[in-house]
Amino acid sequence: MRKDRKKRRSRWIDIGFLTVVSASAFTVLLLLINSVVDITSIVPKSEVLRASVEKPTVTVESAQSPYEGITIVKETTNDEQRPFSIEYPQSEFKSFNDQVAAYVEEWKERFAADGGKPGELAVSFETAEHSAGVYSFAVRASIASEEKQTADIRVFRINPQTGKPLDIVEMTGNDPEKLKRLATAVRSVILEDSHLKGVLVKDRLWAPTEPKWANYRNFALSDDSMTFYYGAGVIAEKQAGSVEVKVPLEKLNPFLAQPFQVKAAPSNEKRVALTFDDGPDPYSTPAILDVLEKYDAKATFFMLGSRVKTYPDIAKQVAEAGHEIGNHSWNHPSLPKLPDEKLYEEIQGTTDLIKEAIGQPPAVFRPPYGAVDERVFQSTKLPVVMWTVDTLDWQHRDPQKLLEHVMYYTHENSIILMHDIHQSTADGLEAVMEYLTAQGFTFVKVSEIEDY
Ligand code: NI
Repeated sequence: MRKDRKKRRSRWIDIGFLTVVSASAFTVLLLLINSVVDITSIVPKSEVLRASVEKPTVTVESAQSPYEGITIVKETTNDEQRPFSIEYPQSEFKSFNDQVAAYVEEWKERFAADGGKPGELAVSFETAEHSAGVYSFAVRASIASEEKQTADIRVFRINPQTGKPLDIVEMTGNDPEKLKRLATAVRSVILEDSHLKGVLVKDRLWAPTEPKWANYRNFALSDDSMTFYYGAGVIAEKQAGSVEVKVPLEKLNPFLAQPFQVKAAPSNEKRVALTFDDGPDPYSTPAILDVLEKYDAKATFFMLGSRVKTYPDIAKQVAEAGHEIGNHSWNHPSLPKLPDEKLYEEIQGTTDLIKEAIGQPPAVFRPPYGAVDERVFQSTKLPVVMWTVDTLDWQHRDPQKLLEHVMYYTHENSIILMHDIHQSTADGLEAVMEYLTAQGFTFVKVSEIEDY
């Protein structure tokens, strides 16, 4: 009881104190306002008026989009010196909205940071739709001023019914080997894209397409393709602006998670992949190229770094004929036995050298003797490719036996292992090609075989 009374008394004291404090604060505030009024009254009335007329206004509107659960926010201004036009999507889900808004905010700040010079900010977006209910919004932002032009594009994905985002990890079933295959497929589409021919900077291509999850986040998904976006200057000349790379889902099928796979168009094509290991060789490799050319066939050559170093021109000749180049280590050791540092040299050293010799890195990797373990898998950035038909050409060195092995074991989608360092293989190849062609096979690069 006594405690209560004490409390009540102290509360009255508090109220009294607050009254005194706020009364004096109010007096100070009145004084301040008076002095402000004094200052403005010195400025001629007409000038005050003009300043208030010229202050630009910003309009923010929200509109329905054609997509259920998505609204479009539009922000514009009547500022003629520094106009902006901003449009971006919002959903019913906070996390998506915050991410998009943060990106837009980043560009507004960048625009504000250039100190009021004449310029224009534009933010707009385009939408791709996937029948699983996922929408991809590719938001383009640019600032144009007299001095410079900056632009970027960022994709945000959401299922507006569930609020679930979709990322590249989910697209590929969280499998790093599938990501490597995706990377190889994306690179080959980029290299074959005729629109990019004049502007692509090959040296810049490798880092932003390395198989890291972060490199493959900027994509839009439709029912038949994935489109990857690269900002201006990332893989092409800066003047070319941002680059879009559209990859048909059919090409990515084997390494996409099940919900994103598409039914491939029915094909009567019976495919087979010819692979040649351990080269290049100055005699038998060119002889093999001649035979392949005669049959208009593309193959894959798994090269040793040590031999590419000795015969860089042969390596180049193979690549220029349109064949796929693979990394087969530097010296052909059994990789699982190697210490980390040596393993890195065997794989990365060979990749770097091939890049130097032919102007692009290898597309695939095959471990010597097919010897591979988890550590070897992790230390290569390339898809690991084995074989399904072993011709034993290195053992028998007999053109007739080469043909017999091929005849006996080859099926649709076979990956045939041969070696381009043996003259007997070059000698026997013509009969092999004759046989496979007669059987109705078409010859593809190994990375085009669905399961490897
Ligand atoms: Ni080998």
